[in-house]
Amino acid sequence: METIAEASEKSDLLAEIQTEEQENFTLRRLEASDYAKGFLDLLGQLSVCGQVSQEEFTKRFEELQSLGDDHFVCVIEDLQSARIVATGAVFVERKFLRTCGKAGHIEDVVVDSSVRGKHLGHKIMNFLTQYAKNAGCYKVILDCSMENEGFYEKCGFKNTNIQMSLRF
Ligand SMILES: CC(C)(COP(=O)(O)OP(=O)(O)OC[C@H]1O[C@@H](n2cnc3c(N)ncnc32)[C@H](O)[C@@H]1OP(=O)(O)O)[C@@H](O)C(=O)NCCC(=O)NCCS
Repeated sequence: METIAEASEKSDLLAEIQTEEQENFTLRRLEASDYAKGFLDLLGQLSVCGQVSQEEFTKRFEELQSLGDDHFVCVIEDLQSARIVATGAVFVERKFLRTCGKAGHIEDVVVDSSVRGKHLGHKIMNFLTQYAKNAGCYKVILDCSMENEGFYEKCGFKNTNIQMSLRF
């Protein structure tokens, strides 16, 4: 049977993207070779990434792959420079609530500063949201800073809660 990841990858949301400036991008699943395409540098624009060796990256990549359809990292690659310029992830939480329902959690959305404002962030969000829907989630949620509230509103999200956190 086709997995959710396979079905989502076939959808027209995963596709070649051409901007008004005729730049070409492709939206696809994270691959192990993206380590060499600046994936971690991009994440570093969101938060502290630290030094992650190729070996550590591959180990984590394989751990995430072992979660099957419950975890999906999508990226946008600039086809001209072969660099990863946008990313976002979705995690499917399996609950007891809502008759053993599922909730999607969107994490780590970031677009390279050089290509912001070209709707790449919106494309990432569309894909992740649709992925959660395809996975049977009854809702999809995320945390964000006040300064990004407008972006997520443009992606159809509403501010419904406050975030609580305890850092270790
Ligand atoms: C937030 C971020 C992902 C947006 O990506 P982007 O590709 O520049 O956004 P898009 O071009 O897809 O914007 C989609 C729409 O949201 C609007 N928008 C983008 N960022 C916005 C913001 N911070 N506040 C209000 N509106 C915003 C755009 O103007 C656009 O509106 P339009 O459809 O009317 O033209 C990007 O700025 C970024 O990576 N920031 C740094 C990392 C970060 O804060 N990530 C979010 C973690 S919660």
